[in-house]
Amino acid sequence: MQKLIIDINALCHTFSDGYLGIKNVSLSISKGEFVILAGKNGSGKTTFLRHLNGLLLPDSGVIFVNGHDVSKHLIQTRKTVGMVFQDADTQIVGDTVFDEAAFGLENLKVKRSKINEKVTQVLEDLNLFHLKNRSPSTLSGGEKRKLAIAGILVMNPEVIVFDEPFSNLDYPGTIQVLSTIINLNRSGHTIIIATHDVETIISEATRIIIMEEGLVKEDGKPDSLIKYLESYGIKEPCSSKLGLGLQPWLT
Ligand SMILES: Nc1ncnc2c1ncn2[C@@H]1O[C@H](COP(=O)(O)OP(=O)(O)O)[C@@H](O)[C@H]1O
Ligand SMILES: [Mg+2]
Repeated sequence: MQKLIIDINALCHTFSDGYLGIKNVSLSISKGEFVILAGKNGSGKTTFLRHLNGLLLPDSGVIFVNGHDVSKHLIQTRKTVGMVFQDADTQIVGDTVFDEAAFGLENLKVKRSKINEKVTQVLEDLNLFHLKNRSPSTLSGGEKRKLAIAGILVMNPEVIVFDEPFSNLDYPGTIQVLSTIINLNRSGHTIIIATHDVETIISEATRIIIMEEGLVKEDGKPDSLIKYLESYGIKEPCSSKLGLGLQPWLT
C-alpha cells in the first residue's frame, strides 16, 4: 500500500451567496497516483482543487496533506502541492522565460546562485532552456503552458494539480503538455488533473473521480468507469465508443 499524501474527510464548501459548492467529500490520494477529476462545467472541480493547497478553506471537514491539517499549515501545504491554474499562461509576468520561471523562488528570497541552478535544471527538464532569453509573449501556446508548469516545478512540489491543462491548446501544444505531465508522473510526482474532457489523458490515469453538483459520484479505475462517463455529461473517448477500450492518445 502506497503512502497517503492527501486525505480528505467530509469536506464541505459553501460560497458567500449560500451556494453549496462541495458536499461532504471524503477521499484519499496516495503518493504517485495519476488522478483525473472529471465532471461537466460547474460540477465543483475547481472549487475542490482550490482546497488542496488552501486557497479555499472548508467550512466543515478537514484536509490533511502529508499528515498536516491544511488550514493550520498553509505554507507547508503550498510547498507540497503545486497548482497550475486554468489558463495559467495568461498570467505570465516575467520579461524573459528565465525570469518567469524564477519568480516564485525570488519571492521566497532564495539565494541567486540556488535560483539559477534550479531554474536551469527545470527549464532543461521541460526542454525550454533554449528559450530562456525569449519574451514569454512570443512563445507558442504549448510552450507558455509548459512555462507555467516550470514556475511551479522550481518549488519542488510532490503533488502537482492541473486545472484544465489542455484548454485552448492546439494539437502540438496538447502533445507538449501531455508528454510533460506523463514524465512528471514517471519521475514520481503525484498528478491530479481536473478536466471536463478526459479523452487526451484517460489512458494515462490510474484513477478517475467523477464529480457532479459538488458530490463525488464515482471513484475508480478508468477502464471500469469509461462507459458511465456520458451519464455525467463527460464525453466517452472515441476509442471506447468504437469498442477499442482505452487507447493512448499519444502514439
Ligand atoms: N465565488 C462563487 N460564488 C458562488 N458560487 C460559485 C462561486 N464560484 C463557483 N461557484 C459555483 O460553484 C459551482 C462549481 O464551480 P466550479 O468549481 O468552478 O466548477 P467546475 O470547475 O467543475 O466547472 C458552479 O455552480 C459555480 O457557479
Ligand atoms: Mg473549473
